[in-house]
Order: sequence, then C-alpha cells, then structure tokens
Amino acid sequence: MPQKSYTITTPIYYINDKPHIGHAYTTIIADIFTRYHRMKGEDAFFLTGTDENSQGSLDAALKSGETDIQRFIDAQSALWRSTWDSLDILYTDFIRTTEERHKQGVKKFFLAVHEKGDIYKGTYTGLYCTGCEAFVRESDLVNGNCPNHPCPPQEIKEENYFFKLTSYRDRLLEHIDAHPDFIQPVSRRNEIRNYIEHHMEDISISRQSAKWGIPIPIDESQVIYVWFDALINYLTGVGYGWNDELFGKHWPADMHVVGKDIIKFHCALWPAMLMAAGLPLPKRVFAHGFFTIDGHKMGKSMGNAIDPVALAQSYGNDVLRYFLAREIPFGSDGDFSFSRLKERYTADLAKGLGNFTSRVATMASREYNSASPVSLDSEAKDAIGECWNEWTHAMEEYHPDEALSEVWNLISFGDKYIEQQKPWALSKSDKARYTAVIQTLVEVLRHISVMVYPFMPKTAEKIWEQLGIGEQQRSLTCEQSRTISSVPIEHITKSESLFPPLP
Ligand code: MSP
Repeated sequence: MPQKSYTITTPIYYINDKPHIGHAYTTIIADIFTRYHRMKGEDAFFLTGTDENSQGSLDAALKSGETDIQRFIDAQSALWRSTWDSLDILYTDFIRTTEERHKQGVKKFFLAVHEKGDIYKGTYTGLYCTGCEAFVRESDLVNGNCPNHPCPPQEIKEENYFFKLTSYRDRLLEHIDAHPDFIQPVSRRNEIRNYIEHHMEDISISRQSAKWGIPIPIDESQVIYVWFDALINYLTGVGYGWNDELFGKHWPADMHVVGKDIIKFHCALWPAMLMAAGLPLPKRVFAHGFFTIDGHKMGKSMGNAIDPVALAQSYGNDVLRYFLAREIPFGSDGDFSFSRLKERYTADLAKGLGNFTSRVATMASREYNSASPVSLDSEAKDAIGECWNEWTHAMEEYHPDEALSEVWNLISFGDKYIEQQKPWALSKSDKARYTAVIQTLVEVLRHISVMVYPFMPKTAEKIWEQLGIGEQQRSLTCEQSRTISSVPIEHITKSESLFPPLP
C-alpha cells in the first residue's frame, strides 16, 4: 500500500516582526500534529515560512537604515527559520515569498484566475491598514484607529485589479455546509458563514502605489496584494509550478493551522481563489485562539512580547511545548503567565512525569528476577488500553490538551499502583511478584513515553534512554508501540531527574 500522505501548514509570518510565543504556539501545535502523523506511519509534509512582499517589510527595512531591501529581508527570514530550528520544529520545507519558485507559481495562479474571467479593473477608494495589510471599513474603526493597531489607516484611491469574490458566495456557503470539518472550531464556522452571506465584497488584489511585491503579470505597473500572494504559498511550498509529482502528493493540504485573526482570508478568500483557479480546497482550516500575557494583549507595541527561544533556554523546549499545548485548549483563547508556567512545571512535570519516571527507573535498575515471564496486571493493561483509545481520539479530533490530560491520568494510575503494590516490601517478601510489578510499571512508563513524544520529543528520548529502548523500537508506529510486548528490562538505568526543581 502506498504511504498515506498528510500535509499541514502554519501561516507564513511577516518578517518585520520578531517571533514571539504567539507565533511559536501556532508552529509548535503544527509540529505536534506533524510528529503524530509521522508516528502513524504517514508521509507528513509540514510547511512553514515567511511572508515577505508586504508594505511592512519595506517600511521595516527603510526604518532600519538598510538600503538593500532584500538583504534586510533575508536576515529577518533567517531569524524566523533559526527560531524554529532551535525550538526543534521539524518542518519539511520553509517557503519564502521572495523566492523564484514562489513568484513563478503566483504568476501562474494569477493568470489562471484571469483566464477564468474573475479579475477586473476598478477604482478602490477607502482605507488601508499596513499593520493588518488589509483594507478596512470606516465602520470598523475605533476612535479613528484600526481595531487591531493603534494607528489610523491610510486613505487610498487607486486604480486596482479586483477579484470577483462575490461570484463565489453560493459555492462557498455550499462547501462549508457540505463539509462540517472544513472550518473548525464550530464558532468560527458560524462567524465565517455570516461574513460570507452578509458582508463579503469583491476584493482589490493589486496595489498601484506599493513599491515592493510581485508585479501583476498583465500589468507590471502594479504589484499583487500581499494576501493574494501569500496564500498561494500553500501551493508553491508543495511544488505548484515547479514539482508536479510533489504537488500531486501533498495538495490538497489536510490542515491549515491559523490564528483566529486571519480566518476571513483562509476560509473565504482562499477557497474562492482555489475555486477560480480550478484547484481542490484544503480539507480543514483550524483557527486557534489568541492568548494574552498576564491578561494583557501581547505585541510589539505593548512591549510585552515574549521571546520563545529565551523562554526555552530558561525552562527547556519541552517545557514550553508542554505548557502551550496543555494550558490553552486548542481553538479557545487563553493566557500566558510565568506563575502558571511554574505551577504546571512543578505539579505536572517535576512531581508528575519526572517523579514517576524516576521512581520506576530507580526500582527497575535495582536487583530483580529477570527470568520471570512478563505478565501485566490486568488493571494496568486496561488503563494503558483506555489511555491509548482516548489519546488517539483526542489527537484525531485535534484536542492536544485533552490528549495530554489522558496521559497524565495514566501517570496518576502508575503512582497509585506503586502505592497499592508497595514494591519496596515485595522485593523482600516475594521476588516473583516484585518482578511482575516492576515490569508492569516499566510498561506503563513506556506507553506514557510514546504518547508524550509528539509533545515533548526530548523528554521521550530521555525516558527511552533510561529504559534501554533502542533505535528500532523508537521508530515504531503508534500501532506497533501500542501492541508490542514489553521492553527487556535488563538495560534499565537511572539517570538524573527529568525536571529538576526550579530555583
Ligand atoms: N503573514 C500573515 C499570514 C499569511 S498566511 C498566508 C500573518 N502573519 S503574522 O506574522 O502576523 O502571524 C500571524 C499568526 O501568528 C496568527 O495567525 C497566529 O497564528 C499567530 N499569533 C500571533 N499572535 C498571537 C497570539 N497572541 N496568540 C496566539 N497566536 C498568535 O498574519
């Protein structure tokens, strides 16, 4: 059977900003699902990258004093890439919209939509916010400012090319109704349905005054509107226009992970663009919530943006990954605070997973009767089976926080099992029973480590190291890990604590 493919994307990030933990959240979640799908034995393609053709890029370059705009952009893009590298993000490709392969794809796409008759010339009179890189309506302004940025939008009157977005109103609504998984969570689906039905207008897809961007193939005096250009990265990143085989395999995407701020672009404009170009639609757009910092909106202008790399250096990558995935239910808004991070570190990681691992490894590395046959206690078998069922269900339904809480239920089970069985007493009174209890505990820990892997890959590896689990067993699929019999316990070694107490 050919290997099943799975394609997941993040938004491509604006390079005029520095990565903060909000961006890291999106990328880490996409990485967690990529690792999960790879664990299922699928060929998972994870696309991320940078959005470089915006007015904001140009403004930032000029502000920095750099005269070579592309050089400034290259350095900024490299910063994003190295951030994901240092956070252990296993992206398959990193697309940049100033790359030739992207530019060619955008031109091809534009011409396909133009040929369809969906592009016309008109005059745009209205407001434009450079922060959002979007046209805004007078009625949306708050005290004359853009609702998302503390500055007034610019007034623009330009000859522009427009995309006939409204021609797709009925087809979009039909598609959304026929595919309940297309927009998630449900609250976002309702919001988008309402927008498409009542507010959606044709959209200007070119800028006459912009000095940076991809020229329109039929009129080089204008550049393509940055969102029209950026959305196409999801195609050019998987081969559109440069590798048909790759494209055939990885388009349509299974999942676009986006923040709730950009759903109109992803759930209305993007599918309409694809319909116009005669291409299949992505299977799912998942809009996660936004989180605040100690209750305040996060951002450069607020001066409270947290650098994810510095945070990971202080607490560890896996701690950051765990905290973000566990604390904020995927799809809802949340809050980030150092006090919550420390609480979870101590309760869930140091006293939870760390302590359980250390107890099991300590006991198992001591003397035991390795000749005994492995027979798991049935209550442990049931707890492990139940955890796998619930964990898998949560992962398939895109509830990473729930998947983690199932694993933590199994850790609690393991802790209680130790208290009930009292292995320290059995080691003197009943060696055979002692071995069975230890083997059961090692099995519980092994299953926990596999289910923890997509969230905390380094921690899982440290547990495998202690359990003497070799390369071959590390690359088993979920199904294989779930069903194989126990690991040989002769190799167990106790290492230093996974999560030492915080200073
Ligand atoms: N360049 C566009 C996306 C184009 S995709 C074709 C863009 N870029 S962005 O740099 O502004 O990144 C936006 C994404 O960062 C959001 O959609 C969201 O995924 C993430 N986040 C930014 N701030 C965030 C929070 N405070 N909380 C959670 N996620 C946040 O928009």
